[in-house]
Amino acid sequence: MTATLRPWRDDDADAVAEACADPVIARYLPFLPQPYTRDDALAFFRNKPGDPAIVDAETDRVLGAIGSTPRGDGIAEVGYWVAPWARRQGVASAALEQFSGRLFEQGLRRVYLVTALTNGASQRVAVAGGYTREGIARGSARTADGTWADMVVWARTAGDPPGRSARALPDLAGGELTDGVITLRALTEDDGPSTYELRSHPDVSGRSVVGTPIDPAVVTRQCAESVSKWIAGLRAEMTIRDAADGTYLGEIALYHSEPLLREAMIGYSLAPGARGKGHAARAARLVTDWGFEIGMARMIAGTATDNIASQRVLEAAGYHREGLQRSRLPGPDGTRIDNLQFAKLRPAAT
Ligand SMILES: CC(C)(COP(=O)(O)OP(=O)(O)OC[C@H]1O[C@@H](n2cnc3c(N)ncnc32)[C@H](O)[C@@H]1OP(=O)(O)O)[C@@H](O)C(=O)NCCC(=O)NCCS
Repeated sequence: MTATLRPWRDDDADAVAEACADPVIARYLPFLPQPYTRDDALAFFRNKPGDPAIVDAETDRVLGAIGSTPRGDGIAEVGYWVAPWARRQGVASAALEQFSGRLFEQGLRRVYLVTALTNGASQRVAVAGGYTREGIARGSARTADGTWADMVVWARTAGDPPGRSARALPDLAGGELTDGVITLRALTEDDGPSTYELRSHPDVSGRSVVGTPIDPAVVTRQCAESVSKWIAGLRAEMTIRDAADGTYLGEIALYHSEPLLREAMIGYSLAPGARGKGHAARAARLVTDWGFEIGMARMIAGTATDNIASQRVLEAAGYHREGLQRSRLPGPDGTRIDNLQFAKLRPAAT
């Protein structure tokens, strides 16, 4: 399918109303009328005559919408949606590329867009369109339930090089890492309850630098927003599951803590019932190898001096003890505790 842009026609109104009945569009574009009628579509065509339809170049079927709003001298904000029947085929990415080119040809200097922290699809569209992540605009967008949400701001300027933006932490090829016994997958909103339960165990929260989770809704939100940290290149958080039946076993993350040094850190926790079977070492090995594959030169991890189980995990995953860092970790009741630092070096190219 080839996506192309053309002006809206009145006979597109039914397709627009059908697409906008989609709950994902309602979630991420809460300012659209709900329910969205044929008349809403016709009014939109009249009000925004410069905004094109995204259609299939061969069949002329409506695939989505893209448009811009002026935001000051030489600046515009872009927005888009793709109909449920046309998703995950590169439609939004192709449309954003074409539409941005058109705006720069018209003399704009800066084009930006904002995405919800949970909207991984749209953040990937921004990356594919050569937009650079600039930061978080806190409390800047109203959500469907009337609260104010933080948004990720992405921009492309007239002088930016063509092509995709770079991502320090790419998505997992095929969506997972596996060794046949365990499987690691990106943390999602659906992992909220298991993650809350895991992080609530005293021996998990007691070893965590962030402490006990305050409430299940906060943990579910953190899981849902995890994709934005991954796409930003800050950290890659994954669940550990049984490869055979998908049972939740725990979590592991790669923290991209020293990008300039090409060094990343791993951290992991297993649910009590999943311990003693070598799963943590398997997970550590998978994430460590992935780290080297995506360009890390050194992978590190730390444990409290009395955390013998975690030290065994690191040794089993090929890490070496490097030294004792005094008072590196926050301990109970405002105290500080020593950290045993472990590291594994990227194998020399053969
Ligand atoms: C966001 C949206 C426009 C994406 O449209 P699309 O045509 O499916 O996007 P593309 O096919 O161009 O996909 C772009 C990238 O996102 C990835 N992607 C798309 N949907 C995804 C999903 N649900 N989960 C994970 N990745 C997804 C694609 O694999 C692709 O990745 P790549 O560039 O690394 O190969 C569409 O999901 C949508 O209309 N959502 C509701 C409205 C909305 O969110 N609008 C944007 C508001 S900021």
